[in-house]
Amino acid sequence: MAIGFLMKEQIPVIQSEALAQIATAHDERSLEEVRVAVLGKKGTLTLAAAGMKDVPKEDKAEVGQLLNAARSAITSALEEKQSALQDLADQAALTGIDVTLPARAVATGALHPLTLIRDEAISILRRMGFSLADGPEIEDEFHCFDALNTPADHPARNEKDTFYFDSGKLLRTHTSSVQIRTMESAKPPIRIIAPGSAYRRDEIDATHLSVFNQFEGLYVAEDVSLPDLKGTLEYFFRELYGAQTEVRFRPHFFPFTEPSFEIDVKLTVKGQAPRWIEVAGCGMVDPAVFDAINTSRKDTAFDPNKTTGFAFGMGLDRLAMIRWGIKDIRLLIENDVRFLKQFA
Ligand code: DAH
Repeated sequence: MAIGFLMKEQIPVIQSEALAQIATAHDERSLEEVRVAVLGKKGTLTLAAAGMKDVPKEDKAEVGQLLNAARSAITSALEEKQSALQDLADQAALTGIDVTLPARAVATGALHPLTLIRDEAISILRRMGFSLADGPEIEDEFHCFDALNTPADHPARNEKDTFYFDSGKLLRTHTSSVQIRTMESAKPPIRIIAPGSAYRRDEIDATHLSVFNQFEGLYVAEDVSLPDLKGTLEYFFRELYGAQTEVRFRPHFFPFTEPSFEIDVKLTVKGQAPRWIEVAGCGMVDPAVFDAINTSRKDTAFDPNKTTGFAFGMGLDRLAMIRWGIKDIRLLIENDVRFLKQFA
């Protein structure tokens, strides 16, 4: 039989069989099988199209049209079925799910209590004109001790208490070194606060860590007086712990201040007798510190006859423990989410 005639018979059959198979395909896999069987490299329609070269001239146009019509009918049937199957799958995936329910809460982080108390302390002192200063944690003995009038035999300089490097440098034992760094690079008036880490070889227990957080303050100008120191720090602790907070200054000794004081605040915990708790050290900058600064700067910008100042330092960990009644300092570094969550 003539090939042209055969093709005219065959193509509509391929088309109607393909459409029937597409209609009954029940999932994407069987649909893909139909596509391959008909339109694939060795698919029935592909093979039929390959026969075009043998079709006599007079039949070519008609057979060509049949082929094109079959291909486009099958292709669009495949696409329609594909999207219908997808809709079914989507519906099935949603069955039993209430899409109007509110989304599950995403747990957001919270600021660490040390960050909270540090930021609060900074903002109180900023309102009084203090600005932030910084200094290195790996210090030398000059900035950590000598310039702060601390003699070579002072216990704080002991190898047993301080982390020394072979180079002779050390991990700063207090943030007071930032006082020196600041005065070396700026002239009075100076009013700075310097929060940061400090390091000591302490036995770790409920109130001691070998890395802790301090907060240094320094005000140097002409005519800075002891009442300025008292007023500033009383105001600071009342802002931090509430207007009713009682603050007391006890005479003490620090090498870098004269006179020096320790500051206590009265702590009232429900169901307990009120007690004084030590929170800070402070005093009027010792003229010997100004002398050391002038020598280091090679000028007299801090003339001890004209320049006066006060300094203070305190532990941020302690401030946080008092604020929130935290009994063990180790909670501040353990990152236990059950603890940290309470500050969210
Ligand atoms: N540096 C002292 C310490 O770590 C705290 C301190 C006391 C700082 C008196 C001061 C100060 O600035 O005047 O214990």
